[in-house]
Amino acid sequence: MTQCLYIFKKLNLVNILVTGAAGFIGSVLASNLSRDNYDVVTIDNLSTGYEENIPSSVEFIRGDCHDPAIIAKLRNKRFDAIIHIAGQS
Ligand SMILES: NC(=O)c1ccc[n+]([C@@H]2O[C@H](COP(=O)([O-])OP(=O)(O)OC[C@H]3O[C@@H](n4cnc5c(N)ncnc54)[C@H](O)[C@@H]3O)[C@@H](O)[C@H]2O)c1
Repeated sequence: MTQCLYIFKKLNLVNILVTGAAGFIGSVLASNLSRDNYDVVTIDNLSTGYEENIPSSVEFIRGDCHDPAIIAKLRNKRFDAIIHIAGQS
């Protein structure tokens, strides 16, 4: 995660999509990115995660990463990087 943050800073990446930020790994990642003033959006279907894990500064889109209707909600957004954490443990 430290390397990830280092690269983002080095490349001046600002807008980050983190999938699965209601879960164990994604919530820590989203929290660290928010703390460092990145603009973070997450998609999570809450299948195993909890909404309260998502930092309040993160824009939360509730739904499945596979759902075209959810992906369509990203149409007007621009991301410098996508970190795909959503998945089954
Ligand atoms: N936790 C570990 O030690 C570990 C180690 C290696 C790899 N991984 C992998 O990393 C990923 C995340 O692990 P975790 O421990 O944070 O799991 P987690 O279950 O705590 O978090 C996964 C999050 O993704 C969400 N999610 C799942 N499927 C989704 C979908 N189709 N669309 C939107 N959201 C979806 C869940 O609701 C949850 O919030 C998993 O793929 C896991 O196999 C985890």
